[in-house]
Amino acid sequence: MPENDARNAVLVGGAINTDLVARTTRAPEAGETVTGSDFNVFGGGKGANQTVASARSGVRTAILGAVGQDDFGRQRLADLQREGVDVAAVTIDASMASGVALIAVEESGENRILYVPGATLTVTPEQAATAFDQVRPDVVLTTLELPIPTLERLYKAAREAGAVTMLNATPEPENGRTLVPLADVLLVNESEAVSLSEHSDGSPNWVDVAEALAALGPRCVVVTLGAAGAVVRDGQRMERIAAPPVEVVDTTGAGDAFCGAMAARLAEGVDPIEAARVGVAAGSLAVTKAGAQPSMPHREEIDRLVETTR
Ligand code: RIB
Repeated sequence: MPENDARNAVLVGGAINTDLVARTTRAPEAGETVTGSDFNVFGGGKGANQTVASARSGVRTAILGAVGQDDFGRQRLADLQREGVDVAAVTIDASMASGVALIAVEESGENRILYVPGATLTVTPEQAATAFDQVRPDVVLTTLELPIPTLERLYKAAREAGAVTMLNATPEPENGRTLVPLADVLLVNESEAVSLSEHSDGSPNWVDVAEALAALGPRCVVVTLGAAGAVVRDGQRMERIAAPPVEVVDTTGAGDAFCGAMAARLAEGVDPIEAARVGVAAGSLAVTKAGAQPSMPHREEIDRLVETTR
């Protein structure tokens, strides 16, 4: 990222993975072998996917993360650089393998993911502080893929500098409890929302769940509901945003597309509810293509779809 570049910026903290993706009529049960139909290798990792989504929205974007000194790591960094992402804050750790995800995608487009973080777990709080100082972002967006002390340091730097903090509490939302009160924007899917809000109701009212999550501290809460769109609570405003109907090919990375596109608009100063509307459109577009990073939509496609949903 060139020095003195005053454009709006997003710094994403998260995993850079290689996704090994098999398509199958149905995923195997324990002890069972199922014959799949298709195999592909894609760039993945929630952090890296969100970075690509933000960059494709035309905002200056950097990533804080780590890869191993291996072919997967080199390929993933090259992918990110091709997207114009600043990778100066990515460390290469020779003692660890790069992150990998084993993904089974069923005919319905639903997926099951086994994720091995590898080098992602080596990112330190000091590296987070340095990355923040170098990028000076308007928005810090993270998942829970980096170590929690590292994320806490990043959020502290962001809050001291007045940057917007956006937490996508995934995977394993229960690990993010200390971060939730530090987030200006909390973005979760249904199961993550239930886990963090400790709702025991089998079919919760998502408006109530969003209220409960807002009581934990974030000014803006977004609960994504897949094909049903999202519920957004921002301050005293509550809005349901419907998702446009699309043909589902692969749901992998839909939440990442939502987060990256929304973060880019927040960096431009767009109103959070409007930014979430952009996120819904980005997530809807992402499910129409196979793979995580290849399916992250560009700004023009998102804007066209948003216009059809007004
Ligand atoms: O959100 C999708 C991502 O989760 C995949 O790209 C995979 O790497 C997993 O971590």
